[in-house]
Amino acid sequence: MAKILVTGAAGFIGSHTVDLLLAEGHAVVGVDNFRTGRRENLAAALRQPAFALHPLDVAAPGVLAALVAAERPAAIIHLAALVSVPESIANPELNFSLNLQATHLVAEAARAAGVGRVVFASSAAIYGDTAELPIQETAEKAPLSPYGAAKLASEALLLGHGACYGFTVRCHRYFNVFGPRQDPSSPYSGVISIFGRRYQERQAVTIYGDGRQTRDFIAVRDVARANVRAATLPGLVSGAANICTGRATSLLDLADIFARHYPGVPAPRLAPARTGDIVHSLGSPARATAELGFTATTAVAAGLAELIAAPPAAAAP
Ligand code: UD1
Repeated sequence: MAKILVTGAAGFIGSHTVDLLLAEGHAVVGVDNFRTGRRENLAAALRQPAFALHPLDVAAPGVLAALVAAERPAAIIHLAALVSVPESIANPELNFSLNLQATHLVAEAARAAGVGRVVFASSAAIYGDTAELPIQETAEKAPLSPYGAAKLASEALLLGHGACYGFTVRCHRYFNVFGPRQDPSSPYSGVISIFGRRYQERQAVTIYGDGRQTRDFIAVRDVARANVRAATLPGLVSGAANICTGRATSLLDLADIFARHYPGVPAPRLAPARTGDIVHSLGSPARATAELGFTATTAVAAGLAELIAAPPAAAAP
């Protein structure tokens, strides 16, 4: 069993990744500055002796490097980020610091301490809106936001470091991730988290556009599995892969699935499409299958049933 350091451990994807690492018997060093991460997400992890949590900021020079030098993990899973595309547009300086500079500091910390592997949370946002569907990893990269640009630059930075200093880098280009612990509080939060809260409150959801737009929704439990595999599977070589299902779900389909769980909730309201909204987004999962042996197994309907049944976050000890 290995020691794995996870940045952004208290976040949506981070906390599920921590839980799975612990379930598989690994020792986990979690790092979070609690800017968007929540301690409650780690309620179960914090009860386990194999988990240590460090409240620190990855973007502050020297801080992570000292921890990595002291802990000497076998791998770092770097998930800490500014996660909102609209926030990156409103505050590109903060995006630079949290999404690019922080990645540089992770790369440097890995180099200095001789960490063997770094797994990085990249995004489908690096492709922009120009690619043919399903999107292959070789598609043109044309990010449409500071967020997408920083994720693309971070991939290059990590892969360059890895090639030069001899560690393996796996970049995970997540598509639309959903599941328990996703924050629904902003209008630009993931649509499934927003729909989940609205249906729970028995309020009509709003669909922007005609509802025929589609996304490749992947359950967070599958994403956590991809992360753990990439951090622990022996013999992996560096590279970048889509983390997606290869299946498209429309917004109308989503609303139908929710409606079956919540009979009597008023039908969705249609509103004008959002400016800049992409109509279809769909990834090809072939490379992740070939290189990582990873395939998403949770169908959207099953993932939604699990989300709807999930208890609200428990208080952290
Ligand atoms: C993602 C980003 C978004 C960014 C965009 C750039 C997330 C959560 N969102 O959006 O910030 O600008 O990539 O490509 O990472 N929708 C509704 N009703 C709602 C909320 C959303 O109909 O209440 C629609 C949206 O208009 C969109 C679809 O649902 O058509 C999915 O929205 P979202 O979950 O924000 O994901 P992306 O559009 O992929």
